[in-house]
Amino acid sequence: MDLSNLPRVPIAFLPTPIQPLPRLSTRIGGPTLWAKRDDQTGLAFGGNKVRKLEYFLGEAIAQGADTLITTGAPQSNHARQTAAVAARAGLKCALVLRGDPPAKTTGNILLDRLLGAELVWTGTRSTSDVMDEVADELRARGQRPYRIPLGGSSAVGAVGYVAAISEFVEQSQTARLRFDAIVFATSSGGTQAGLVVGARQMEYTGRIIGISVDHRAEEFKRTLASIANDTAERLGLSPSFDASDFDVRDQYLGGGYAVMGEPEREAIEIAAQSEGLLVDPVYTGRALAGLIDLVRKGELKLGQNVLFWHTGGTPALFAYARQLTKE
Ligand SMILES: Cc1ncc(COP(=O)(O)O)c(C=O)c1O
Repeated sequence: MDLSNLPRVPIAFLPTPIQPLPRLSTRIGGPTLWAKRDDQTGLAFGGNKVRKLEYFLGEAIAQGADTLITTGAPQSNHARQTAAVAARAGLKCALVLRGDPPAKTTGNILLDRLLGAELVWTGTRSTSDVMDEVADELRARGQRPYRIPLGGSSAVGAVGYVAAISEFVEQSQTARLRFDAIVFATSSGGTQAGLVVGARQMEYTGRIIGISVDHRAEEFKRTLASIANDTAERLGLSPSFDASDFDVRDQYLGGGYAVMGEPEREAIEIAAQSEGLLVDPVYTGRALAGLIDLVRKGELKLGQNVLFWHTGGTPALFAYARQLTKE
């Protein structure tokens, strides 16, 4: 598998480390747990999107763009990482964020501002209408915008996670470790699609379990297959993925996207207090809560090596300070 002919600007600190979590393993009682630290990709609090954005930026520059545009929820990690990548590359950035500006500028929104992005709020309007409008306005001002889809989840971005699994397989071979399962937060799908495409190429045969933070599994698996097939085609591979190739768990949606409940709070506290490891209320806290539940139910068990692929998101912790401290 040769990714070297695709336009890419190397920005992330790679490889991210794989860290043992002995105290967390003991605390939960079951498999040996490890973390792949993609919260440490090295740019503005890190996260999984930096791997995808390296490829988007490559394309944007090849097309002569001078401004990145993307969209997301108010506390979008993807938006913040896009703003950081734009700053790093000397480009401008416009972020179309859903809804109205919150009363308090905190978490990712604070960082978006510090990183110099222009924030546009959709109010009650559709994201795609506002994206079109912003792109038109930028062009009218003489700028050359490049649009990045929600979550960076297209074939261009998912390639970042095809490369990531190859990095992971190399690390596990060097350490003579065999992982039985990878568990992580899945949402717009590019991370999971890329991992599954890469795993087939790299012959990683362990399980790849996506803990959904916002979608029901059935329809989402079809979305994953579609991103995976586009990604495979981009890489000159056979586009032969279907919904059955994806393991998505939707039992952990709780009160819905970005609604922190007791399982997320417990996961945040256990990780912080047993390992000094921070996870967030929206994505990685929910994914870790799912992992803990799979251990408690005996699906992941003693004798196995389980990798928690930490995808970042920690700046959102600050936006949840009141709920987390019960003040
Ligand atoms: C911290 C974090 N983890 C996981 C994800 C999910 O990744 P994907 O959108 O590629 O499914 C996101 C997406 O926004 C995220 O911000």
